[in-house]
Amino acid sequence: MCGIIGYIGKQKDINIGISALRKLEYRGYDSAGLAVFNSDQKEILCLKKAGRIDNLEKEVLCSNLALQGNTSLFHTRWATHGGVTDGNAHPHFDCKKNIYLVHNGIIENYRELKDSLEKEGHVFTSQTDTEVASHLIEKFFKGNLENAVREALKHIKGAYALAVMAKEDPNKLVAARLSSPLVIGISETDGYMVASDATALVSYAKKIINLDDNEIAVMSPSDFFILKEKQPEILETKSEDIQKGGYPHFMLKEIMEEPEAIENSIKGRLIPEEGLARLGGLQNVTEELRKMKRLLLVACGTASYATLVGRYMLEEYAGIAVEADIGSEFRYRKPVIDEGTAMLCVSQSGETADTLAALKEMKRKGMLTLGVVNAVGSSITRETTAGIYNHIGPEIGVGATKSFISQLTIMALLTLFLGRQRNLSLIKGQRIAQDIQGLPDKVRAVLATQNAKVKEIAEKYAHFNNFIFLGRKYNYPIAMEGALKLKEIAYPTHAEGYAAGEMKHGPIALADENCPFIIIAPVDSVYEKVISNMQEVKARKAPIIAITTEGNEAIKELADDVIYIPKTSEMLTPILTTAPLHLLAYHMGVLKGCDVDKPRNLAKSVTVE
Ligand code: AGP
Repeated sequence: MCGIIGYIGKQKDINIGISALRKLEYRGYDSAGLAVFNSDQKEILCLKKAGRIDNLEKEVLCSNLALQGNTSLFHTRWATHGGVTDGNAHPHFDCKKNIYLVHNGIIENYRELKDSLEKEGHVFTSQTDTEVASHLIEKFFKGNLENAVREALKHIKGAYALAVMAKEDPNKLVAARLSSPLVIGISETDGYMVASDATALVSYAKKIINLDDNEIAVMSPSDFFILKEKQPEILETKSEDIQKGGYPHFMLKEIMEEPEAIENSIKGRLIPEEGLARLGGLQNVTEELRKMKRLLLVACGTASYATLVGRYMLEEYAGIAVEADIGSEFRYRKPVIDEGTAMLCVSQSGETADTLAALKEMKRKGMLTLGVVNAVGSSITRETTAGIYNHIGPEIGVGATKSFISQLTIMALLTLFLGRQRNLSLIKGQRIAQDIQGLPDKVRAVLATQNAKVKEIAEKYAHFNNFIFLGRKYNYPIAMEGALKLKEIAYPTHAEGYAAGEMKHGPIALADENCPFIIIAPVDSVYEKVISNMQEVKARKAPIIAITTEGNEAIKELADDVIYIPKTSEMLTPILTTAPLHLLAYHMGVLKGCDVDKPRNLAKSVTVE
């Protein structure tokens, strides 16, 4: 997806825009460009290059253009219409080089518009659909930019987020959107910045306005107006994101958002036909990752279970030596490391003290450090060299739900990315990519078809005070997540997660009619082993709740209650088995009268040791 930055304010240094543009690199791109209105020369100066932003910066340094001005545009392009060339990069301009603009989206009727504009004598310099917009605005320009933009947009069909400036209507930045996000950042001390998403505005603005469809914003260095009324919102409390959306609790809303969380985590990051994952945030460390020999995964709590699943994935499909540890222990160890070792931290908040301390320790030793983080601009994102944002919006419930599902999804994307740098074949990569793409609908199906049953199970077992969760291989960490979620949400219920194979080494002493077992048993490579463990538990009269693959009727001979999930590849089953466990903890917590959004003694982000 393309990335847009528009700036108008007191500053003339284009680095304010370039650094904001870099925060959009995660969206993936293949060329970059900028344009700045130099008020001394009364000219708009423009540079654009195929390749990375580094290429563009080199061009800036060796150009003799006076690239400073208080109105500027910046863009990263992901090619849709027209190849990856300097000429096709944005900004695009009109015949008289008066109108300059950057665009995200697709102009569906660009062909007919271009034909009629060419018949009217307009000369095009690129193969893009975007350039049509600059000539169309030129056609209607009579000295007022916003009026020309408004007229031009009446003729455009498709999706657009546009930022536009005009030499002949200076000190003005116009932005417009239809079906492609555009956010205005309002600085308290400077001016305004327009961006494709708020990620780029974190260090510039405290307040933002999300433009709505068919709205046109007109900004000067000191003021702005929108052709349709809109009040500024405070960035960190975007109302539509934190309202409960009709759900009784944030936790339930965020469980129900788990399919969307997967969609947002994979958006623009899969190339199924090539069996590839495109992780823009890792672009500048691609070669170091290719040479990497060993990966240390560090996290806390629920996030640590995502790293345990990631370890299985990376070992099996990327062939990488992986170690996973919790931050509070790792920071006091003396791990044996060498130059081929890298570290990956996983943290929803990006502020967890134990994870952050472990990260700083490894960074001090010169290790390549990466992050998988949801909170944009958080401490861990500032400490790590590169990383992958979850992009799932704020998670308000203290219990990590959608963030965990997103972390598991990103572990799968990372496995694909690193595996295809190594020996993972095209065919296997395509299969994994396709299975990842199918996850949102499968989780939707689980939530829709199993929620009522899980609620009944919660009611049936609510009087028990001790539970044991069992799982093997990819679902052993999910047994631990299920136990943690039940403990922290339905307190004072006690629950323990165990590797199913460990039962015989002690915990089976607990098996009796007073201790229900929740056993995660998808039909996979270790299914028969798990069934043996289920038989051992059954023999001791413990109630059993099983999670298994649709169509598996035989398991009903052993389990008292069964929750079904759709079929998917083994490495992705944790994403499907987790959803019902989150629901179980939620329903049990509500039944016990717990504060499921703010469980006692817990904080959403543990910023102390
Ligand atoms: C999860 O339900 C808990 N709230 C807790 O274990 C959490 O996962 C842990 O504190 C890590 O938080 P982070 O992802 O923000 O680093």
